This record gives sequence, C-alpha cells and structure tokens, in this order.
Amino acid sequence: MIGLALALLLIALPAAFGLWHLVGGLWAVRCRQAAELAANGRRMMILWRDDPAPGLFRLWLVDWRLFLPRFAAGQHVIVTVALPDGTSARRAYSLAGWSRFPLVYCLGIRKGAAASAALHARARPLARLTVSAPKGQFTDPDLGAPLVLVAGGIGITPFRAILAERAGRLASGPVILHHSAREPAELLWKDDLTRHSARDARLRYIPRATQGQPRLTVAEVMADITPDSHVMICAGDSLTRSLREGLLEIGLPADRLHIEAFSLGLQPENLGISITIGDRSFRPGPVGSLLEALEQGGAAPESECRAGECGLCFVEILEGQARDIASGRPVSGRVLACSVIPETDLRLGRSV
Ligand code: FES
Repeated sequence: MIGLALALLLIALPAAFGLWHLVGGLWAVRCRQAAELAANGRRMMILWRDDPAPGLFRLWLVDWRLFLPRFAAGQHVIVTVALPDGTSARRAYSLAGWSRFPLVYCLGIRKGAAASAALHARARPLARLTVSAPKGQFTDPDLGAPLVLVAGGIGITPFRAILAERAGRLASGPVILHHSAREPAELLWKDDLTRHSARDARLRYIPRATQGQPRLTVAEVMADITPDSHVMICAGDSLTRSLREGLLEIGLPADRLHIEAFSLGLQPENLGISITIGDRSFRPGPVGSLLEALEQGGAAPESECRAGECGLCFVEILEGQARDIASGRPVSGRVLACSVIPETDLRLGRSV
C-alpha cells in the first residue's frame, strides 16, 4: 500500500510541476501580449464605412480575436493614421456605441484637417488600422442620476455609447439629449435616436439644425435640470463656453458639469488671432484648439492623445492668453496645446 502511494506521488509530483510551469508560461505570454496591446495598440480591420453627410464619416472596426477590450461608454481610442508625406499621426476618436462584450468598435469622425482628412481619404473596407485600447474619463458620472447631454455636431458620438449603456440597465435615470448641428444631414443617428426615444420613456431626444436658427440657450438646458442632474457637454468651443459660463453662473455645482476635454473632431471656429514663434507669425483659420492652430502653421509640438492625457504637446505661452477648454479658466505659461484655445494674439516659446 505504502509502495503504491509512493509510486503515485512520484508520478503526480513531476506532472504537477510541469503543469504549474505550463500555466505560468501561458499566463506570461498572455500578460506580454496584453502589455504590447496596451503600448502599441492592435491591428484592426475596417469592416464597413459610410459617409452620411459631407465631411462626416463612420467606421466599423473588427479584430480577428473576435472579442474586443471592454470599455466604459464615453471613452475614446487612439488611431494611428498614415499621412501623405510618409509620416504618421495618432488621433483620438470617441467610440460611438457600447456593448457589454464588444465585437465591433464604431467611430464617428469629422473630416477636419491633417490626420482625420488622411483617414477620410484612405479608410476603406478591409484596410487595417492600429487602434489603442479604449481610454478616457468622459464617462457616465452616475447611471442612476438624471442626465442632460448637450452634443454639437460629431460630439454626439460618446453620447450614443452612453445611451446604449443606460438602455441596458433597468435602474438608470432619465436622459435629455440636445443635439445641435448646422445641417439636418449632420444630425447623425437621428432616426435611431428618434426610435429609441419613442420606445423608451427615459429618453427625451431634441435634435436641432441651427443653420439660420437660434442656438441652444442656457435657459433651455437649465429648464431640464433637476437638483440631482448631471450635465455633459461635447460640443464646439463657443457653445461649450456659453453653456459652461451660464450654467455655473446660475448655480449648477461644478462637479455636476462634465465637458469632453479633447477638441479634435468638434466644430472648428475662426478665432481671428495671430501666433508668433520666434520671428515667424501666422494667422490660423478655423481651429478647435491651440494644437490645431499650430498644426496649421507647421509649428506643432509632438502630440498623441489630444485629450490632455499623454503630456506630449506642451508649449510655452510667453505673451497673450489662452483658455482651458474643459474648465474655461484662463491659462498662460506652460500649457498642453491640445487642451487650450487661444483668446488673444499669442507669442510662444519653443515647444518643451
Ligand atoms: S496630445 Fe496628449 S496631452 Fe496633448
């Protein structure tokens, strides 16, 4: 009996030892792959593309691994885009949909300039893109609380994901969604959102084409707010600024106001200012951030996330003033160019 037990032990011990190392090795490979994906992104294939309005396009991306990394509704990915001059740029785009177990990522993109324009020209079904893991803080602050969403143009994309996440929860709070765009065709997902609103009493959807019409006012947004409401804004600078100032002035607590920090893809505006670096000056056209202005002048610092997260795009404002896009506070000195917008003529030092 003792001999049999010893024999079994002699067989079991090496087997357990081998199994232990096998599992450890597989786990190490998986961790290394996860670290590589986090650092470099994954290669994804464009499954489909459509162009619902001039200058606006949508991409649906898939991966051979089938299941994609899960994400919080409202987050974005960073896409590496090949530029016509042979270099590449990395741009952040919000994920325009949400699923508990995502099989596809949908991006809604405004053509804009530089990388987004290159993507618009080249993104075709079956082409491949390098896409980062989802990231970002612009997510639903409280699933149970009433929510007022204000989207300008392509700023609807994170809100479509937030609505999808809330639709899957029985106990989520009511949502009022204001979506403004210049042209009716730019009200992306209008039919879907109208249907969603018709069958779900928790959603009130208010689309508005602003061409020649009055824009959304602070009073209209304020009329929707209850004492426990949160307000999220993803819109161009002037609408964001007027709503932020008005809502805070009227008494909305600052911790109930959430503003998308990255300006890329939102409606650019002509600021009428000039930028001077050394002995060179230029006047940028319509832009959504100081970084976009510098790109137009061929003087942009290195950049990546466009969301104030990677810390690459620092510049030094020597004279003049800019404004932080998210908080609305005036800033000068060393700033992240992607997160501020010029308010006056600027003199800049070299990027640092
Ligand atoms: S580009 Fe990443 S912080 Fe500005």
